[in-house]
Amino acid sequence: MKFNRRHFLISLSSGLGLAFYSYQNLQQIPTTNVKEINSRITTNSTVSSSEIPISFAPAPKGMFAPKRGDVRLVVISDLNSSYGSTNYQTQVEKTIPLIPEWQPDLLLCAGDMIAGQKLSLTEENIQAMWDGFYRYIATPLRQAKLPFCITMGNHDASGYFKKSGDKYLYEKERRQARIYWRKHQNDLNISFLEADEFPFYYSFIHQEIFYLIWDASTFYLPTQQLEWVEKSLGSNQAQIAKMRIVMGHLPLYAVAVGRNKFGDVLTKTEKLQNLLEKYNIHLYISGHHHAYFPGYKGNLKLLYTGALGSGPRVLLNSNLPPRNTLTVLDINKEQNQIFYTTYDMKTMTVVNPQELPEKITGLNGFVLREPEVVLPS
Ligand SMILES: [Fe+2]
Ligand SMILES: [Fe+2]
Repeated sequence: MKFNRRHFLISLSSGLGLAFYSYQNLQQIPTTNVKEINSRITTNSTVSSSEIPISFAPAPKGMFAPKRGDVRLVVISDLNSSYGSTNYQTQVEKTIPLIPEWQPDLLLCAGDMIAGQKLSLTEENIQAMWDGFYRYIATPLRQAKLPFCITMGNHDASGYFKKSGDKYLYEKERRQARIYWRKHQNDLNISFLEADEFPFYYSFIHQEIFYLIWDASTFYLPTQQLEWVEKSLGSNQAQIAKMRIVMGHLPLYAVAVGRNKFGDVLTKTEKLQNLLEKYNIHLYISGHHHAYFPGYKGNLKLLYTGALGSGPRVLLNSNLPPRNTLTVLDINKEQNQIFYTTYDMKTMTVVNPQELPEKITGLNGFVLREPEVVLPS
């Protein structure tokens, strides 16, 4: 058994299981205790390790509180509303200020932060959308000093080329995304390794984990970018890191109804999967399909982040309702384990991974659901 690569632990659960774990968790960590420790940590006062409960588990009040890993990530994706919108649906605006309460080490957003990819939008329209993003999303995160990383979605800055093949079709959106993110690059609070092409593709290290963000805002990665990806993944800094995570907007394989078609998954999938496996990438995080799925294929873990904003989708091979989700990842670096806890942010309950299909077959291959394991007590 490929223990460390395959034994990907997924935290629980809803229904009776959730009720049990929520109850158990609340018994172990009274809310006031967690709150008190949280406030002392944020004010930099000393908390000795003996004072921290064994299953220290910060979470927004009243929500299921998973045990914190060595490193905790929160992942969100697909925040936008309809074309040209300068604000966000209620569940997005409600969720963003809650994120610091999980006390993540890093927040990741898998793209589609604004509502572009429309040729009739003017430079002013696009700027107004980034202003809206700054107001509703970026400002609360910056005030919380939360390290944050992003990848470009097709609605942010599509990398699709014109038919002639040498110019971007959405040139205005590429330009405005670059202007906005270059201006706010330091707000992300991360230590870049390579950022010449930021915000389109870049790399950084955070708490001994190497991250590579590539530009999967359309279905292909140009040769020049792929050459950079290979060099970067093979670098000493990447290879000596405890773990390696790659994030891009489009996934390798299809999982959602309405997205099971050419153009909504990356092309040359086999080549990309081989590349990621060759450099021992633990996890590829994607958005765009608007449906949460904790998958794997071969030796590669595939986190499909659900949409927090408009248009959540139904998974292929399932009749579950669409949900707006946020995922917390608790990582055990030494054993390369990752626990997922995914919340439906409308009902504020945890998604039960057992309800999800065990296998999803799309147009370019299948993806399996990670086997689930009971949370360690
Ligand atoms: Fe999207
Ligand atoms: Fe998208």
